Amino acid sequence: MKRHLMLALALLAGAAPSSAATCEVTVESNDAMQFNLKEITIDRSCMQFTVHLKHVGKLAKVSMGHNWVLAKTADLQAVATDGAKAGPANGYLVPDDPRVIAHTAMIGGGESDSVTFDVERLGDGGDYSFFCSFPGHWGVMKGVVKF
Ligand code: CU
Repeated sequence: MKRHLMLALALLAGAAPSSAATCEVTVESNDAMQFNLKEITIDRSCMQFTVHLKHVGKLAKVSMGHNWVLAKTADLQAVATDGAKAGPANGYLVPDDPRVIAHTAMIGGGESDSVTFDVERLGDGGDYSFFCSFPGHWGVMKGVVKF
């Protein structure tokens, strides 16, 4: 009887979700021009990583649109500045910008979008950031991606 209990406990411990890497994250954005995260850590055992972006506010995309863009921190400002010029029809990103590693669509209140990318695109590591490319947002809507 005791042996069976021990075995059951061992099996439960082995099946605990904490033992596996989580290769996805949900990021919330709101009407106050904020992301709910300042830092995202990507586990090195992940082949691919998925970001689910939610806009939990009510404002429309034209006035309070948000996206989630991943780039080298050194490229952030230039990608955002060039993206602003690319305009709303392009989701405020230069189409196929090689400096952009991954990005979601630009979304408005109540909407959501996801993006999955190959982790190998981050190479051996380095200094990466995520941000929103809506004009004027990247100054505060940004965070660090740790790898
Ligand atoms: Cu934004």
